Amino acid sequence: MRTREDLEAVVEAAGWAPSVHNSQPWSFTIAGDEISLRADVDRRLRAADPEGRELLVSCGAALFNVRTAIRALGFEPLVGMLPDPDRPALLATVRIGPAEAVDEHTEVIRSEIPRRRTHRAGFAGRRVPERMLDALVGEAEREGARLTPVGAEGAIRVLAALTTAAQEVQAQDREYSLEMIRWGRPPGSKYRDGVPADAYPQQARRTHPHFAQRDYARGQGWGNPDDQPMAADTGVVALLTTRSDTRADWLKAGQALQAVLLHAAAAGVAAAFHTQALEHPQLRDFIRAQLCSGEFPQMVMRLGYPTTRTRGVRRPLADVLDEGGNPG
Ligand SMILES: Cc1cc2nc3c(=O)[nH]c(=O)nc-3n(C[C@H](O)[C@H](O)[C@H](O)COP(=O)(O)O)c2cc1C
Repeated sequence: MRTREDLEAVVEAAGWAPSVHNSQPWSFTIAGDEISLRADVDRRLRAADPEGRELLVSCGAALFNVRTAIRALGFEPLVGMLPDPDRPALLATVRIGPAEAVDEHTEVIRSEIPRRRTHRAGFAGRRVPERMLDALVGEAEREGARLTPVGAEGAIRVLAALTTAAQEVQAQDREYSLEMIRWGRPPGSKYRDGVPADAYPQQARRTHPHFAQRDYARGQGWGNPDDQPMAADTGVVALLTTRSDTRADWLKAGQALQAVLLHAAAAGVAAAFHTQALEHPQLRDFIRAQLCSGEFPQMVMRLGYPTTRTRGVRRPLADVLDEGGNPG
């Protein structure tokens, strides 16, 4: 059993997970020595994510942070995944289990939780070593998902082209555009969710092949003007997949994603995400059949060494900690 402050620090760590559009679609309750994680479905992206897949991937990443932060306190996290079919928003309960020694590895990845950032530009020319990629593949596997670095030039070009196609379609679509208006923040915004204007460069160089970025700036020329990365390497393109496509798989994919990201971050490697194509069922099916050996793609990313750093924003603890014990 730990103090209330310890458990609040665990929830704070959970909130530093990546989430689609930084929507932070979660809430937590603390009861005794148990933390509950709930989906905040009001924050679901109705156009991009009608099924809530990306919402659950995001919450899975937060769950990995909860587990890691509890381990870093010296306890085993006892997780109940989707514990109550009658309460689908209740995604997990995590109880503080028996004391266990904290290893150095846990301390290292715990310290990366608030530091890790999404990258939105090219990478430096230095390639992520195979040995490190193998380690990241192992991290995903431990969490029940598969990370596949894509080696074939043709496959990388296909993924880049599909990303561009999906981005173009979304740019023409009213519902998607409204979602970008909701979550893409103008410069100087005081909001603590959504994607701030200094989280991406004002002008990024194109990579070859080029993976289209989301238009968080909505054509307004926003973006960090001081961040003018010269780096223009695509990096290592990687797919995160699962064997089936249930809500439990999405939560697993999120935990695997965060395990990969924190281990990568500890080695100075960042990830850029390009999930536009996965938001169109036909394109996702195509990627699944042609590029994922029939497994379900959950994330398209590039991995590499960033040359610049961006700022992260999160909602305050009081916003995500639900004191009422809402049974949701
Ligand atoms: C499921 C999921 C999908 C995402 N898709 C994209 C994407 O297509 N493009 C992008 O730039 N970032 C994407 N992100 C990253 C989020 O925008 C990012 O995590 C959020 O803005 C918080 O910033 P941070 O990761 O730097 O802390 C995605 C994250 C998740 C979890």
